[in-house]
Amino acid sequence: MGYTKIGVIGGCGHIGLIQAACLAKLNHKVIAYDIDKNKIEGIKKGTLPFKEDGLEEVVLETVNNGLLSFTMEMRDLQDAEIVFICVGTPSLSNGEADLSQIYSSVEALAQKVRTPCLAVIKSTVPAGTSRRLTAYLEERKLSKHITMVSNPEFLKEGTGVKDFWEPARIVVGSQNEENSKKIADLYKPKDVPVVLTSWENAELIKLVSNAFLSSKISFINEISLLCEKVGADVRIISRGIGLDPRINLHFIEAGVGFSGPCLEKDLKSLIKQYEEAHINARILKSVLDVNEGQRQAIVEKLEAQLGTLQGKDIAVFGMAFKQETDDVRQSHNLPIVKNLISKGAKVTATDPWVKSTEQAGLSQEELPGVEWIASPYDAAEAKDAVLILTAWKEYRELDIQRLKQSLRNPLIVDGRNLFNVEEMKKFGINYIGVGI
Ligand SMILES: NC(=O)c1ccc[n+]([C@@H]2O[C@H](COP(=O)([O-])OP(=O)(O)OC[C@H]3O[C@@H](n4cnc5c(N)ncnc54)[C@H](O)[C@@H]3O)[C@@H](O)[C@H]2O)c1
Repeated sequence: MGYTKIGVIGGCGHIGLIQAACLAKLNHKVIAYDIDKNKIEGIKKGTLPFKEDGLEEVVLETVNNGLLSFTMEMRDLQDAEIVFICVGTPSLSNGEADLSQIYSSVEALAQKVRTPCLAVIKSTVPAGTSRRLTAYLEERKLSKHITMVSNPEFLKEGTGVKDFWEPARIVVGSQNEENSKKIADLYKPKDVPVVLTSWENAELIKLVSNAFLSSKISFINEISLLCEKVGADVRIISRGIGLDPRINLHFIEAGVGFSGPCLEKDLKSLIKQYEEAHINARILKSVLDVNEGQRQAIVEKLEAQLGTLQGKDIAVFGMAFKQETDDVRQSHNLPIVKNLISKGAKVTATDPWVKSTEQAGLSQEELPGVEWIASPYDAAEAKDAVLILTAWKEYRELDIQRLKQSLRNPLIVDGRNLFNVEEMKKFGINYIGVGI
């Protein structure tokens, strides 16, 4: 038996839509609320606003059986027992998380609800947000029906639906264990560790988790710099250390660094919280610094090989921030491409799922003169180099002989270490990776 009504605010976003559809699949009656009319209309016509493996089937099934519906009217959530808040929390220019979408949506909800409602923050927010929001609602006499709960989201884009069904843990923070349990039980977790804790602990677990993952990436990237100088191969180092279960093999692949809608912004938000607490976040700031260095270094490698980038034709492989997603939000592939352009290069971009500057959410002025070509072989045609930025499976499976024939100059600079140096040598490719 499911709940009468669950609301999801930001219900057409990456997190909100997965949350809404999968909860409906668990037999809860879910209303997804969003302010983006285009997304709602698209979903109603069967077109999801982004690609996510397995999501379309769940949305179709739950819309068709009447368990999932969409609305732009907050009043439709007025008698919801539980409302998940899944709106964006982007970085402000000073690194602080912008909580305006959180505040405005919770306030709008509080103005409409008529019955007791748990307002559950799934968005990633600074420690203390649930407490401050509670005070904010109390000051405005809007707290009568609303109780704040924190239930951070850990899913990964590309495997979001699978991660919903098989989470590593469920974390819920509140001031009342009964409320926390109610949220955890909603997911019907089988053999999944559940952490029921305070607001601040739950909020911080999410940020610290992402900061730790970022640290692993910057750590191995710093090791890669030494590998290049002493003739070592960072991939062997990664495997050699990662086989130790205390370290493990995840997030220790050297490359062009991390980007995308979460890791960098969450790290910046955490650093800002240290600043506000007058603590010097020495490790966290270095993590960011090393990451920015990787972005510069990959362009410098290309420049060193070609002498200059002025007038050179470069094929950039991959624009999404990672494979298996069409998400280019905060993808550092974009600033890398801008850097190439600023140095006088002419860029041809290719990506299996991102097909145009418009789809990347950018204007022609932001990516001037970038040509988009779907086939990587055609994109490489008569180019001075290929620069690989996203670890798409399609690139690992490239026919290197064919790629070489397309290129004017057989140079591949690989920010994702997809290939074997010796094999590439056999093909006559000048292959430059990261830490190898
Ligand atoms: N994307 C991820 O992989 C991921 C993973 C874990 C946590 N998170 C966190 O989840 C949150 C949401 O991220 P996302 O990637 O889903 O963002 P998103 O931009 O894809 O989705 C946000 C949605 O909220 C809607 N929205 C904005 N303001 C609104 C309002 N006032 N009322 C109703 N809807 C509103 C937008 O139209 C959009 O559909 C962020 O805090 C993010 O850090 C994201």
